[in-house]
Amino acid sequence: MARKKHKDGGASGADGEGLLAPEGALMAAASAGQAERDVDRSLRPQSFGDYIGQRKVLDTVCVYVKAAKLRGQALDHVLLGGPPGLGKTSLAHVIAHELGARLFVAHGPAVEHRGVLASLLIQLGEGDVLFVDEIHRLPAAVEECLYPAMEDFRLEVAVGDVAQSIRLPRFTLIAATTRTGMLSAPLRDRFGIHERLDLYAAEDLAAIARRSARLLGIALSDEGALELGARARGTPRIVNRLLRRVRDLAAVEAVTQVDRAFADQALKWLGVDARGLDEMCRRILRTMIETYDGRPVGLETVAATIGEDAGTVEDVYEPYLVQQGLIGRTPRGRIALRLAYEHMGTPWRGQRDLF
Ligand SMILES: Nc1ncnc2c1ncn2[C@@H]1O[C@H](COP(=O)(O)OP(=O)(O)OP(=O)(O)O)[C@@H](O)[C@H]1O
Ligand SMILES: [Mg+2]
Repeated sequence: MARKKHKDGGASGADGEGLLAPEGALMAAASAGQAERDVDRSLRPQSFGDYIGQRKVLDTVCVYVKAAKLRGQALDHVLLGGPPGLGKTSLAHVIAHELGARLFVAHGPAVEHRGVLASLLIQLGEGDVLFVDEIHRLPAAVEECLYPAMEDFRLEVAVGDVAQSIRLPRFTLIAATTRTGMLSAPLRDRFGIHERLDLYAAEDLAAIARRSARLLGIALSDEGALELGARARGTPRIVNRLLRRVRDLAAVEAVTQVDRAFADQALKWLGVDARGLDEMCRRILRTMIETYDGRPVGLETVAATIGEDAGTVEDVYEPYLVQQGLIGRTPRGRIALRLAYEHMGTPWRGQRDLF
């Protein structure tokens, strides 16, 4: 099988599309969703220089990458945690690129059994990077098979009734998860490097919007970028999505430059309010304030009331609402805070039934 270097663009795969050998990245766009993901990929930072924000994480990772290169050895295994859309997959690509290593991509749930993992591992060469997305969804039997591979670079296989151990090259496993808490301790402990990505500051998101606008050929003023950055819920994927929607509106309205006023008008039209909350965020707050009368309420209950999956509410919406001080976590459940009442224009009647 012909294998390409990551920097040729041929050895990286898409995220979220199952198990991908390097060649698997070259798939035709099949739907609008696919086209969106393709744009997402084209905007993905390639190097440490392109990767905006997350200074602390980047500085740390940069040191480890340099040290590994100086030693001429594979980088230690890396675990990347944090909410969706914050740049875990992007960082895995950047690390592989900076190491000058080939990148193989697999999606946790697609590694259904040991055989799939084995076929992935035996493709790897010395110093290659294997990126496993959503590692918390790896089946337990596969996870166990990963332990000796990570620790001793050995693959245990059964040939008939005989157990055999195959030596693997020294590779780097980079794993991403939105649920670090769901990883088993033995798996977590086998990663030498643990990093957690946090929500981005508005200025960093503005810088990401400016970079994406440059790449997509969109005229975006600095103030327009700041407006998008401030209303993107701390998330690069959201700022890029808003930028594309605002670009569409600008095209329809024959607007040549997206400035602050146009960005504001377009975001309102898209249902994104001044704090960056969309309709789903507001439904969550309304449910807590009105349906449950401001009392502590379980996340599952909120999710069921608005007809959304509890995991999605927890991963996608809650981090920003908590970070903004709109909702709080109490021993008895989630609670809407005073700021949420002010934001939703509901009179505040004091905190209710906290303990
Ligand atoms: N630090 C960054 N600098 C510039 N662009 C970024 C950065 N982080 C993310 N992006 C952009 O945001 C998009 C989403 O990032 P990415 O796919 O890496 O997130 P993720 O954490 O892997 O999300 P998920 O948990 O859903 O897999 C990328 O396509 C990229 O364009
Ligand atoms: Mg990802």
